[in-house]
Amino acid sequence: MMNNDKMELSRRELIKLGAVAGVSVLAGGWSLLQAQSDSLMSITIPSSGEKLPAVGLGTRDYRSDNDPSEMQRFRQTMQAFHTGGGRVIDTSPNYGNAENVVSGLLRDLDIRDDMFIATKVDREDAEAGKKRMENSLESFATSSIDLMQVHNLRGTEAELKTMQAWKEQGRLRYIGITTHSPRQYKEMEAVMRKHALDFVQLNYSLADRGAAQRLLPLARDRGMAVLVNLPFARGRLFRVVADQSLPGWAAEMDASSWGQVFLKYVISAPAETLPIPGTTKPHHAIDNLGALSGRLPDAGLRLQIEKTIDALL
Ligand SMILES: NC(=O)c1ccc[n+]([C@@H]2O[C@H](COP(=O)([O-])OP(=O)(O)OC[C@H]3O[C@@H](n4cnc5c(N)ncnc54)[C@H](OP(=O)(O)O)[C@@H]3O)[C@@H](O)[C@H]2O)c1
Repeated sequence: MMNNDKMELSRRELIKLGAVAGVSVLAGGWSLLQAQSDSLMSITIPSSGEKLPAVGLGTRDYRSDNDPSEMQRFRQTMQAFHTGGGRVIDTSPNYGNAENVVSGLLRDLDIRDDMFIATKVDREDAEAGKKRMENSLESFATSSIDLMQVHNLRGTEAELKTMQAWKEQGRLRYIGITTHSPRQYKEMEAVMRKHALDFVQLNYSLADRGAAQRLLPLARDRGMAVLVNLPFARGRLFRVVADQSLPGWAAEMDASSWGQVFLKYVISAPAETLPIPGTTKPHHAIDNLGALSGRLPDAGLRLQIEKTIDALL
């Protein structure tokens, strides 16, 4: 569960303030970042009012056969994510043994209670779904998971029924659905209109903006927070800008890297959007958390960013 004492200001309040000093973590180090932790950008979960830091961590690649150097890298990344103010971790029993790897790292680092765990279920059959969710509770050695999501809309009606009941029993704090494909947007929309969900998870990035047409406005209207997967289009955005230096306008949004431009573009979308970039590298986790500080692009700058990237895609 989350400790959100540190997050007094909502994202919108921060946008209004506009000029919270940016932090270049790579240049400035931890102490500077920690000193700023009370002004980190957050989103508000509409169904509860709970705040979460506006950048999370995707753990699709946290599968391991216990190779010590790989485990050390995962551990350092998780530690960096926590120290930098990150709380939201997205995982799934479909990512090999990632749930167990993540759970073990959080326990070893003694940071479990600070974290907000989002995981998934994807069985067509209700009984199989219950078993799958029991396993997730067991993996995290907990009686309550923060967020359970129907993975890629598989078994939606059966799973949501169980998830709603488990939420009432306190076994799940929040419930939601996920997709990573425009082919499922129609179905996402129908499920969002039919069910009272706390969260939706979908793909949205500068390279893939389709969710902004109907799903993001609908999430805002229906009071659903949005976890954003593939915020770097699986790394494609970095390849596109590989030989491009950061444009002058990046300073207007206090972005000191392309990664922060990409994440601030997602965070500044008109909904409660929280990107969950995937990384297993500590320096990338630190870079990504830099997007929690400083100004966000306004509508005019968002257009300029889109134009710059469109010319490169
Ligand atoms: N349907 C679903 O529910 C669904 C589908 C897809 C994904 N997801 C979730 O979304 C998460 C994110 O998706 P993803 O990891 O596939 O794609 P992504 O976040 O768009 O991109 C990840 C790629 O970006 C690189 N990267 C991360 N931070 C970087 C930085 N600061 N500078 C340069 N490169 C950086 C990573 O490499 P390094 O590892 O080298 O840093 C990796 O190659 C997943 O881990 C998963 O939790 C959910």
